[in-house]
Amino acid sequence: MKRHKKGVAVLGATGSIGRQTLEVVAAHRESYEVTALTAGRDVEGLARLVREFRPTFAVIADESAYGRLKSLLAGEPTKILAGSEGLTAVAATPETDVVVAAVVGFAGLASTLAALNAAKTVALANKESLVAGGGLVARALKTPGARLLPVDSEHSALFQCLVGESPERVEKLILTASGGPFRGKNRKELENVTPQQALKHPNWSMGAKITIDSATLMNKALEIIEAQRLFSVEPEKISVVVHPQSIVHSCVEFCDGSVKAQMGLPDMRLPIAYALAYPERISLPFPRYDFFSQANLTFEPPDRETFRSLDFAYEALKREGNVPCALNAANEAAVSLFLEGKISFLDIFEAVERAVTRTSFVAEPEYADLIETDREARTRVVEWAENKTAVGVG
Ligand SMILES: NC(=O)c1ccc[n+]([C@@H]2O[C@H](COP(=O)([O-])OP(=O)(O)OC[C@H]3O[C@@H](n4cnc5c(N)ncnc54)[C@H](OP(=O)(O)O)[C@@H]3O)[C@@H](O)[C@H]2O)c1
Repeated sequence: MKRHKKGVAVLGATGSIGRQTLEVVAAHRESYEVTALTAGRDVEGLARLVREFRPTFAVIADESAYGRLKSLLAGEPTKILAGSEGLTAVAATPETDVVVAAVVGFAGLASTLAALNAAKTVALANKESLVAGGGLVARALKTPGARLLPVDSEHSALFQCLVGESPERVEKLILTASGGPFRGKNRKELENVTPQQALKHPNWSMGAKITIDSATLMNKALEIIEAQRLFSVEPEKISVVVHPQSIVHSCVEFCDGSVKAQMGLPDMRLPIAYALAYPERISLPFPRYDFFSQANLTFEPPDRETFRSLDFAYEALKREGNVPCALNAANEAAVSLFLEGKISFLDIFEAVERAVTRTSFVAEPEYADLIETDREARTRVVEWAENKTAVGVG
């Protein structure tokens, strides 16, 4: 009997997670077919992937690039769409079973919601959408058939450790963090670090935004909120352990003191494949962890005084409402300004903290409130940075 291939839509196909998803798909063409590929701006990259994977749909989010994509793909049967409406449309097509949400940032929220509302399985890399829109995602998940599976390596690890366990026996979720390129540095040493230094992650090769988030530990902060939403645990049951080798991807501690950890090389293709194939496992022809060549696994507490992001996450979870959305937006804006050389590394913490505490509070935000929160928090960061520069110059 002919087996049904899973239809996979890859949103954010030209990015780090998107490309690695397509490597997994390419290794298992007998099980998966690509139904849609999307990019933000990278028309050339998207056109190349479309020629290789022949999806039904291709979407370029930047509408001004539509004509260029059309001409690059003239003669191809793939239907071409543009803009955020194109993205939400292909997240919900009947031929798609799994939507890989790998757009970076808040821009991914609408398509994550569209996919869940259309009863799809969402393999979620885009943690920002879950952080910012937790309540809306929870509501969309009530759609019969909708499912959210983590792609983030830490959450995939927790998910794997929880297979066969009762939630009420869980005492603690322990997220591991590499500590990023600035582990062990104090504030003085971080005063003049450059974007180039911050972009050099010791273990993972990722997109620019998440790499900076790893350097500030904001990535771990977003992951605390992500874990709270995915596994419905109290924030105080989520802790962070710095593990510089990134071999233990996270752990669950149970009521009897037993700790389960999930291990492997730092390779995102593993959690991507787990989410694509769940509840099965598929074989992957990639290198394995060797206990003897990389025998020293170390663990240390995070430096929460220098890297204040973790405290921001716990505070955001305490206040809830639109605060996690404001935290995410302020961080996205601050990271962009840092990458553009307009603010310093340490400014990111100050800009984020100020913007979050000043953004108008909404207790039960709907989608329109989140759009407004996102806009307000970003504006506050940009205005603070402009003011700071003006004062500095004057
Ligand atoms: N990379 C990792 O190892 C990793 C690990 C865990 C979680 N994640 C999460 O996965 C997500 C993707 O990360 P990444 O590292 O793959 O990022 P990335 O390399 O920067 O790729 C982002 C993707 O999103 C697209 N995009 C950017 N802005 C967009 C917009 N406004 N509308 C629609 N599409 C847009 C990009 O298109 P263009 O190429 O055209 O810009 C690209 O395809 C993030 O949420 C990140 O936190 C990543």
